[in-house]
Amino acid sequence: MTTYITTPIYYVNAQPHIGHAYTTIVADTYSRFCRLCGDSVRFQTGTDEHGDKIVEAAEKEGVTPREYVDTISAMFRKTWPLLDVEADRYIRTTDSDHIAVVQNILQQVYDKGDIYFDKYTGLYCKGCERYLTEKELVDGKCPDHQKAPELIEEENYFFRMSKYRQQLVEHIETHPDFITPERYRNEVLSLLKEPLGDLCISRPKSRLTWGIELPFDKNFVTYVWFDALINYLTGLGYPREEYCSFWAGCEHLIAKDILKPHAVYWPTMLFSLGVPLYQKLHVHGFWNVDDTKMSKSLGNVVRPGDLASTYGIDTMRYFLLREMSFGLDSSFSATLIAGRHNSDLANDLGNLFSRAQAMVKKYRGGRVPQPQQEEEKDVQLRAAAEKMVQLYRRHMAAFEFHLALQAVWEFVGLANKYIVENEPWMLAKDTALSARLDTVLYNLLESLRLLTLVLQPIMPQAAAKMAAGLGAGAGELANLDRDGCWGRLVAGSHLAESEALFPRLAKEKEKKPATKRKKPAEQKDNEVAEEGLVSFEQCKKLDLRVAEIVSAEAVKGSEKLYKLVVRAPGERVIVAGIAQYYSAAELVGKKVVIVANLKPAKLMGIVSQGMVLAAREKTENGDRLVVTTVDGDIAPGSSVG
Ligand code: MSP
Repeated sequence: MTTYITTPIYYVNAQPHIGHAYTTIVADTYSRFCRLCGDSVRFQTGTDEHGDKIVEAAEKEGVTPREYVDTISAMFRKTWPLLDVEADRYIRTTDSDHIAVVQNILQQVYDKGDIYFDKYTGLYCKGCERYLTEKELVDGKCPDHQKAPELIEEENYFFRMSKYRQQLVEHIETHPDFITPERYRNEVLSLLKEPLGDLCISRPKSRLTWGIELPFDKNFVTYVWFDALINYLTGLGYPREEYCSFWAGCEHLIAKDILKPHAVYWPTMLFSLGVPLYQKLHVHGFWNVDDTKMSKSLGNVVRPGDLASTYGIDTMRYFLLREMSFGLDSSFSATLIAGRHNSDLANDLGNLFSRAQAMVKKYRGGRVPQPQQEEEKDVQLRAAAEKMVQLYRRHMAAFEFHLALQAVWEFVGLANKYIVENEPWMLAKDTALSARLDTVLYNLLESLRLLTLVLQPIMPQAAAKMAAGLGAGAGELANLDRDGCWGRLVAGSHLAESEALFPRLAKEKEKKPATKRKKPAEQKDNEVAEEGLVSFEQCKKLDLRVAEIVSAEAVKGSEKLYKLVVRAPGERVIVAGIAQYYSAAELVGKKVVIVANLKPAKLMGIVSQGMVLAAREKTENGDRLVVTTVDGDIAPGSSVG
C-alpha cells in the first residue's frame, strides 16, 4: 500500500509556531506509523510564498518579496529537524517545477472551457486571501481576522467551480471517510447546500505582480489558493505517470481554518482536471495558549524550538498528540506539559523502564531470562499487551492519537502494577522461586519491547534509547505485524547500559509560563540599553544554571571543540570551545555554570543547547582559559543569579 501524507504549505508571513508544529508533527508521526505498518510512504510539507500577504510582510521588513520568502521559508525548514520531523520534500511555491505544473494545469482547465473572463465585485479578506460571502461575515467582519473585508471590483478570470457542486456532494455522501472527523464533513455538506459561486483565480498585475503568470494572459497572475493547492500534485511529479502510485494513497492534513479551500476548491479543481480525488482530508482544531487565542500582539506565541529545548523533543511530541483530541481545540500551558512530562513520562514509563532494567541487572546479571510456566497474571498481562497493540493500530490509523496513547498508557499502568503484584524482590530471596522470577522479569522486558515498538512514531528518540537498552535481544522493531506479537524478545541476550529516559523537570520549568506576555515595562527592556548597561530585567532573562559534566569528547574535525553531555538537571549536549585548555578526563564531574536558555545552534553538525561560561586571561604565552565552577557542592540544575 502507498500513503502520501501532506501538511498545508505554510504562509511565510510569520515564523513557525506551536500550531504549525502540531500539524507537522502529526504528519511525521503518521508517516512513521504507516511505515511501521509496512506501507510505502511519502510525506510532504512546505511553504506558500505568493500573494498579497507576502508582499505586505516583505514591505514591512523593507526587503524584496524574494529576499523575504527565502529567509522565512528557511526558518520553517530549519525548525522541522529540531522536532525530529523528517519530510521527503519541502516544497516551495516559488520552486520552478511547481510554477511549471501550475501553468500546465491552468492551461488544461482553460482549454477545457472551465475558465472564463468576467467582471467581479466582491468582499475580499486579505487575511484569508479570498473573497468572503455576506453569510460568512460576523458583524460585517471576517470572523478569523476581525477585519471588515475590502469591496473590490475588477476584471478577472474565473474557474467554473459551481459546475461541480453536485458531483462533489455525491462524492462526499458516498465516501464517509473523505472528510473526518464527521463534524467537518457535516460542515462542508451544509455549506454545499447553498449555491456555490465560481472561483476567481487571477489577480491583475496592476494590483499584484508577486505570483505565477497565467499562461494564457500575461497581464494576470494566479490567485494564491489556486497556485498553492496544486503543490500536492507537483510534489509527486505530476503530470508524469509516476505521480499516480502515491496519489492513490493521498491523505491531506489541515486545521479547520482552511477547510473550504481543501474540501471545496481543491476537489472541484481535480474534477475539472480529470484527476481522481484525494482519499482523505483530516481536519484538526486550533491550539490556544493558556485558554487565549495565540497572537503576536498579546505576546503569547509559543515557538516550537523553545518548547523542544525546554522540555525535550519527545515530551513535546507526546504532549501535543496526547493532549489534543483530534478535531477539537486544545489549550497549551507550561503547567500541562510539565505535568505530562513528570507524571506520564518520568513516573509511569521512565520508572517502568528503569525498574525493569535494574532488576534484570541485579538478579540476572543483565541477561534476559527464559520464561517458564505461565500463571494467570502472566496470561492477563499478555492479553493486555496484545489488546494494546490492536487499539493502538486502530486509533493511530483513524487519527485518534490521544486515544492511541491512552491505550498505551493503560498498558504502562498494568505493567507497573504487575511489578507490584509479583514483588520480584521477594522472589529473588528464595531460590525455589527462581523460575517464577525468570518469568516475571521476561514478561516485563517483553512488555517494554512492545512499548518501544509502538512508541517509535511518537517519540523516536526515547524509543531508540529503549531499544538500545533492551540490547540485541529486542530484535528488529520495524514492522507492527511481525514484531507486534508477544514473545519475540530473545532470552539469553544481554541488556545494555542506558540513561534515564525522562529525567524529572526542574521545579522552575514546571511553573514557568508558556510564554512571556509583554508588559509595558518589559517592552522597554527590549530597547537598546544606555551606555552598554543592561537593566535588572534584561539580566534576569539569562537562565544561568549549575551543570555537572557527565562526559566530554573531542568533536571530529575540530581542534577546539568538545561535545559535552551535562546534567542541569536533565541531560543536554553543549558544544564548547575549550578543548585546548582541558583534557576530557579533567572535565568529567566538574560542576560548571551554563547559560541554559541560549537558542540551540548547530556546531560541526551537533546541536548545542547552551553555553559553558569561562574566564579568559591574556598572557604573554597566549590566552589562558578556565571554566566557571561553583564554590561548594550544589545540585545540578540549581539556578545562578
Ligand atoms: N498557505 C495556506 C495553506 C495552503 S495549503 C495548500 C495557509 N497557511 S498558514 O500558514 O496560515 O497555515 C495554516 C495551517 O497552520 C493550519 O491549517 C494548521 O495546520 C496550522 N495552524 C496555524 N495555526 C494553528 C493553531 N493555532 N493551532 C493548530 N494549527 C494551526 O493557510
